[in-house]
Amino acid sequence: MKEKTKFISIQEALDKGKGVVAIRGWAYRETKMKDKMFIVLRDSSNIIQCVIKKEIVSEQEWNDLQKLLMESSLELEGSVREDKRSPTGHEVDVSSIEVIGYAEPFPITKEINEDLLLDRRHLWLRSRKMTAIMKIRSTVFGAYHEYFRNKGFYEFQSPLIIPGGAEEGPTLFEVKYGDKKAYLAQTWQLYAESAMFALEKIYTMAPSFRAEKSKTSRHLTEYWHAEMEVAWADLNEIMDYAEELVKHIVKRVLEKNKEELNILERDTKKLEPTIKKRFPRITYDEALKTLKDKFKIPIKWGDDIKTLEEDKLMELNETPLFVTHYPKDLMAFYKPRDKKNPKAAVCFDLLAPEGNHEIMGGSERDTDIKELIKTLKSKGEKIEDYQYYLDTRKYGSIPHAGFGMGTDRLIKWICGLDNIKDAIAFPRTPGRCTP
Ligand code: 4AD
Ligand code: MG
Repeated sequence: MKEKTKFISIQEALDKGKGVVAIRGWAYRETKMKDKMFIVLRDSSNIIQCVIKKEIVSEQEWNDLQKLLMESSLELEGSVREDKRSPTGHEVDVSSIEVIGYAEPFPITKEINEDLLLDRRHLWLRSRKMTAIMKIRSTVFGAYHEYFRNKGFYEFQSPLIIPGGAEEGPTLFEVKYGDKKAYLAQTWQLYAESAMFALEKIYTMAPSFRAEKSKTSRHLTEYWHAEMEVAWADLNEIMDYAEELVKHIVKRVLEKNKEELNILERDTKKLEPTIKKRFPRITYDEALKTLKDKFKIPIKWGDDIKTLEEDKLMELNETPLFVTHYPKDLMAFYKPRDKKNPKAAVCFDLLAPEGNHEIMGGSERDTDIKELIKTLKSKGEKIEDYQYYLDTRKYGSIPHAGFGMGTDRLIKWICGLDNIKDAIAFPRTPGRCTP
């Protein structure tokens, strides 16, 4: 290949439609015939079919090309033209070709089972499906930052190695810290509440860790947690942020990732109500009533609404649904009692449609230090571990609220995936932390 060739992406070559192009990438498919070879070349942008006639290369080169297998990397030059029979409607008549890296037989075939596919995840990332998901994921992260920055929020980072709990003790990962014990953070929240006194409106995007025991299609042990905290805000205000944020992210994906959603065969009509309609807001009490009246499912007040019951509730909703005011006793220690209904906490969960369950949880934060200490003790927590947190209530305490979103769960829903494992490149699940 000549020096200083100006390579363009496959998408650019497709857009150009005719004339000479230089492209490079990996063999997505190869078909060898007696006197010609078809290679469907892929790069990060798209795929294109290329034809190599025996006569354009030397005898030696032709023999070498016989060793070319799927996922070999190559550079080529040729002229592109329309061809309706080709996978992306164009074909390149190759005039010169150079193999950059020959591939061994690719260890992923149609017959491969789920577990091996996860073992070979580092190679499976190259698939059109995973590539499409990773592109959508990139849009989601970008849109998330864009939303909060446009709203005047500061990005704040909390430590990931922490001395004690926050959400639920049993799901803490323990780490050796010199001769002491420490834990991996489940949330930035408690530190964010300290920083809020300086910055007022803050957000983050960071990994959270949960030593989940049960294998489900929506639990990771390491997930990307999108959290925010706002000074002076109440529950309704943060629900407004939550709704606007989800609408903004879904809108961006629909604008930027038509092609990727198409590769995933996602029915995008199912996402449209989320942009157009207001998300209903119902209380836990109203949820119980709906389950009883419409589905004949009785739930005792104080019991959690389980996944099957959430599925029923979501049969009635084509947008995400806010459920507020869950029983205080079921909730994390920092969620305050509702003054009007002391058995309930001032909190919300946001449930996503199409069997996707809780994608966000948020609440006002308890400012009553006595109540906080009482609840922490009742949950068996050591007060010393929370001293820094309780201090926030001693020096100019104010009302505030915030939420956390499971970004991988959001992506699972937007992409219409069956399992959260596919929403992230290298999933960490209860049964697996490799590759
Ligand atoms: O409801 P959670 O536990 O709330 C908190 O951690 C709060 N401190 C957030 C806050 O107010 N700043 O977790 C928040 C969200 C859940 O709604 C869920 O979407 C996601 O995090 N999540 C998980 N996602 C994937 N795998 C897991 N194991 C998850 N656990 C929670
Ligand atoms: Mg929750």
